[in-house]
Amino acid sequence: MKRRSLLSLAVLGPLLSGCSGANEQPLTFANRLHIPPLAPSEIDPDGFRSFALNLQPGKNGTWGINGDHLGPTVRAKRGERVRMAVTNRLPEPTTLHWHGMRLPARMDGGPHQSIEPGATWTPQWTVDQPAATTWFHPHPHGQTATHVYRGLAGLFLIDEPGGPALPSDYGADDIPLIVQDKILADGRLVTGPVDNGTFGLLGDTIMINGTIDPYVEVTTTQVRFRLLNASNTRVYRIGFADNRTFHVVGGDAGLLREPVPADRVKISPGERIEIVAAFDPGETVVLNSIGENRRDANDPEEDDFELLKVVAAASLKPSKPLPQALGGPAPVIPPPGARVRRFALSGSEINGRDMDMNRIDEVIPAGAVEIWEIDNTTYAHNFHIHEVAFTILDINGEPPPAYLAGPKDTVFLRKHADVRLAVRFGRHTDPATPYMYHCHLLRHEDKGMMGQFVIVDPGTEHLVPRTIP
Ligand code: C2O
Ligand code: CU
Repeated sequence: MKRRSLLSLAVLGPLLSGCSGANEQPLTFANRLHIPPLAPSEIDPDGFRSFALNLQPGKNGTWGINGDHLGPTVRAKRGERVRMAVTNRLPEPTTLHWHGMRLPARMDGGPHQSIEPGATWTPQWTVDQPAATTWFHPHPHGQTATHVYRGLAGLFLIDEPGGPALPSDYGADDIPLIVQDKILADGRLVTGPVDNGTFGLLGDTIMINGTIDPYVEVTTTQVRFRLLNASNTRVYRIGFADNRTFHVVGGDAGLLREPVPADRVKISPGERIEIVAAFDPGETVVLNSIGENRRDANDPEEDDFELLKVVAAASLKPSKPLPQALGGPAPVIPPPGARVRRFALSGSEINGRDMDMNRIDEVIPAGAVEIWEIDNTTYAHNFHIHEVAFTILDINGEPPPAYLAGPKDTVFLRKHADVRLAVRFGRHTDPATPYMYHCHLLRHEDKGMMGQFVIVDPGTEHLVPRTIP
């Protein structure tokens, strides 16, 4: 097991007090896991649940949202109208994108919704999608890697009244785990290498929810962990050190149909996986990431890391048994004759083209169900589509592992892989404002491995201008 560098762990934000140490020590799991606070909200006079999110510089090179590093957890129910006041207190323009949210393109927070320093952006929309663990992060064209790496990211949990009886006491038996790799020196975040090498930054210090060397105490027999890979590049294969079986209950865009037993799950940048694990009273077990020993320099997932020590209390409250059916959305099934679009991924291009903010690459009729074929001609990438949920039909011609069967918005493609996705598009039409699809390895995204699509009224596709003035 690779040791994380404990070089000068001083303080990154307020979360790391009490740690010290020299290089290359074993993890001591010395720090209590930080749980991002729930963002306060109020119902404004127009009936919107409103939140204020301030993007601001933190300490030691970090940036945060309403704090020094990372953001609060936003929470809303299906059917609620939400309004965000996003204020940019940073020294440069940025954006805030709602990754996994289905909403009008002008509210999406992609590269076209820039927020100047000192300005406040106030998107609003109706949350109308199944329960899911979504997240938010900046998306300024060419700067996403740096802005996310500095710490601008948070969770947006969507609740659906009447859902299955899963652990749902936030921070107690329903624990978010935002996994990120960082490079630290002299107690400061090192930012330069976001732009290095084929893949960009691969850090040697893992932070969970901004905590280095973390442990968490649990007090129930079953605990739900909502995993988010918010790293720039690194892919993890997460499980427990004793390889115990747990159950996957959710993917990026919502719950599965039924719990899927697994002992390790792969998660690439941007993806979310919800698991439920069982614990015995008084035990401790380490959550870790184990590479596949493929020793392939073309793949950012070969390293092993310890992530988090789970400490079970001497007596545990019994949890409800895991439901047999989770009520997740039915798979997307393409209709006969569904339109097929093909996307070839090369080093930093899609279909041989770099991102152009002024070019519309694809025009999609509202409500369409299409097959998107992604063909990776080079080293590892992944592929994320804004606004949609998709079902992975196959990976290299084989059905995906059962834990990836649920609704997705991001899919990993190892070197030379190809995948077929059944994609259901929404009905928020706007021929002039695009959504993005892109590689979520952030250096690749910044280098132009991204394209733009608009959703338009069916039958008007040919009328849509392909350039944005
Ligand atoms: Cu999480 Cu277009 O991004
Ligand atoms: Cu890529």
